[in-house]
Amino acid sequence: MKNLFCRWMALVALLVGAGSCCAPQATDPIYLDANASIEERVEDALSRLTIEEKVALCHAQSKFSIKGVPRLGIPEVWMSDGPHGVRAEIEWDSWDYAGWGNDSCTAFPALTCLAATWNPAMSALFGKAVGEEARFRKKDVLLGPGVNIYRTPLNGRNFEYMGEDPKLASVMVAPYIEAAQQSGIATCVKHYALNNQETRRMRVNANLSERALREIYLPAFKAAVDAGAWSFMGSYNRYLGQHGCHNEVLVNRILKEEWGFDGAFISDWGGAHDTYEAAEYGLDIEMGTGSDGLTYSTKNHYDNYHLALPYLDALKRGEVSMEKLDDKARRVLRLIFRTVMSKDRPWGSFATEEHAAVAREVAREGIVLLKNDGILPLKPADKKRIAVIGENATRSMCKAGGSSELKPWREVSPLEAMVEAYGAEQVSYAMGYGSGPSSYGRVNPSPYDAEELKKEALEVAARADVVLFVGGLNKSHQQDCEDGDRQTYALPFGQEELIRELAAVNPNVVVVLISGNAVETQWSHLPRAIVQGWYGGSEAGHALVDVVSGAVNPSGKLPFSFYARLEDCGAHAFDASCYPGVDDECYYKEDILVGYRWLQAKGIKPAYPFGYGLSYTTFELGEPTTKRQSYGLKDRITVSVELTNSGAVAGKEVVQLYASKPESAVVRAPRELKTFEKVALQAGETKRVELSFAVEELAYWDETSHSWQIEKGDYDLYVGNSSEAASKLTITVR
Ligand code: BGC
Repeated sequence: MKNLFCRWMALVALLVGAGSCCAPQATDPIYLDANASIEERVEDALSRLTIEEKVALCHAQSKFSIKGVPRLGIPEVWMSDGPHGVRAEIEWDSWDYAGWGNDSCTAFPALTCLAATWNPAMSALFGKAVGEEARFRKKDVLLGPGVNIYRTPLNGRNFEYMGEDPKLASVMVAPYIEAAQQSGIATCVKHYALNNQETRRMRVNANLSERALREIYLPAFKAAVDAGAWSFMGSYNRYLGQHGCHNEVLVNRILKEEWGFDGAFISDWGGAHDTYEAAEYGLDIEMGTGSDGLTYSTKNHYDNYHLALPYLDALKRGEVSMEKLDDKARRVLRLIFRTVMSKDRPWGSFATEEHAAVAREVAREGIVLLKNDGILPLKPADKKRIAVIGENATRSMCKAGGSSELKPWREVSPLEAMVEAYGAEQVSYAMGYGSGPSSYGRVNPSPYDAEELKKEALEVAARADVVLFVGGLNKSHQQDCEDGDRQTYALPFGQEELIRELAAVNPNVVVVLISGNAVETQWSHLPRAIVQGWYGGSEAGHALVDVVSGAVNPSGKLPFSFYARLEDCGAHAFDASCYPGVDDECYYKEDILVGYRWLQAKGIKPAYPFGYGLSYTTFELGEPTTKRQSYGLKDRITVSVELTNSGAVAGKEVVQLYASKPESAVVRAPRELKTFEKVALQAGETKRVELSFAVEELAYWDETSHSWQIEKGDYDLYVGNSSEAASKLTITVR
């Protein structure tokens, strides 16, 4: 009787999140005791599971959930995209939206914008808010963030990632994970690994050196493990001929054994291909295989998953390892106890003004001012007549783009925000160009008469004092969108010609690029200012106008290089085997020289370099100094530099430190980002900035010993406010 009572109380305690009334008896299920450690609960629960129940934990029961163990009261696990907000509810058995009336979320800025803040505090704010939204929506796993490295500006999914530099992505991903998981939901870091293009994404095999893998493509994933990510998602593409979702080297050897990742490894939707490989090479949860549950004749389509009945059969026949099954079940149980059965879960909150404020803060801090001859800011008090031109001034950018698309409770467009800030009488609008409606996986022709649109725009522009052109890319197929790469580096939909003609009728043109990728900017001499505006989410318009009007001083820095020409990008400097691959084999011939590393090694000048961004004030950097010149292998190097805001308004500057090894046994990039610090300064204020990093970070991956090696000798350190940082000092590692 007492035992029954205790069980009942343990259940009550679990539900209310309090401890149980009395110590658990030997027969009590520890998995129900919220005060037991997660590992105790996992082992206890595991010991009670049948093989069938373990297998059931390893695959989907619906489009976005797995079953749990109903017999033991272990609940379902619910997942949702990710990474910029919580996606609208999807039907049980298809990709269609369920049509709920209560699932309109806050849309946060795209991850490129977050990376462009160069401010880990923004990442923490973002992660906390999106975690709260996921929790409120009763999601246990949020499918994001993504940290694949930006290898080519044509990659349709770059907007979901954090740029071209492994250090920047590593620093920015960690706070998102830590903060989001505070809500008792797991982040699911994706797409592990080498999902660097969407062209032939399901098949392409990435061939690259071990060094490039370790130095460029993996560090941000490692940082996510170190930040305590509770789940990871595999990539569609292949590496060493095996798919990312069941890959012996990437998943078993590196992620789980070497890095000690103890969370659940989840397939991308439809990314699992084989029972044996999935069983043996690290896949814990199979999601999204097949289509809509109606195409198979068995009672339950999910039974056909590689890790469902075929897995059970293979286990029973002894063809795959039982130990590995236990490992999978353990990881899924751990995920469950960390999330849906955690005693400490807050309630979360959803679609709140507080979250909209976070979205706005991140969005405006990520906006990058690329060019300004003084025309910006446009002060509302100056009462200028402003012609807003361009489809992206009104187009929803939360819709489309693939799985990261959102149904926001609010999405303020640039035009709405302009009217709000400057008054309807000051602002006129013309669309100027039209891209055509968006449709997943298809490029629809524009239904507009391009000449008519242009004519109208030129008339509107000619009557105004200033033209604010809001263009760029959008979320349609072959723009910034999953499952297809861009087909050209140039601005699409005739925008370049339009910019030229606008500049001919009005000398005061400001161009705002809304995109998650760099575009060709051969026209950059024409406008007086250029703003990289990103996809800003719910508060996109407000954030943009905060910067354009001067209410906020821009402080974003590019998280990737703006190449002058596509061929200037390492991935495009070779033949098609380097990008997009031939016969599904893609060779990363630029090797470790990705992004600015390539540009600097080859002496190519970008249109705008990595780490670059202007401000409405000016900053002066003093001479960097170190207390010591010589360092041991376990030391930290601290560089100190004075930063002065020498202009007239408060602002923030990102002080960046790059290192290089002029004399090395291996090829070295001329500069590699090692650390950075975002500093806020009042007008006239000076601060001493300390930039610190471990000597270990100077290591390169040695392909002979398959380990990190730190070369002794001299290193050059460069300090500045972009990757073209000029101030140099030399230190020695002994
Ligand atoms: C995408 C993932 C996404 C999943 C679920 C896949 O097509 O690649 O990023 O999380 O679908 O929507």
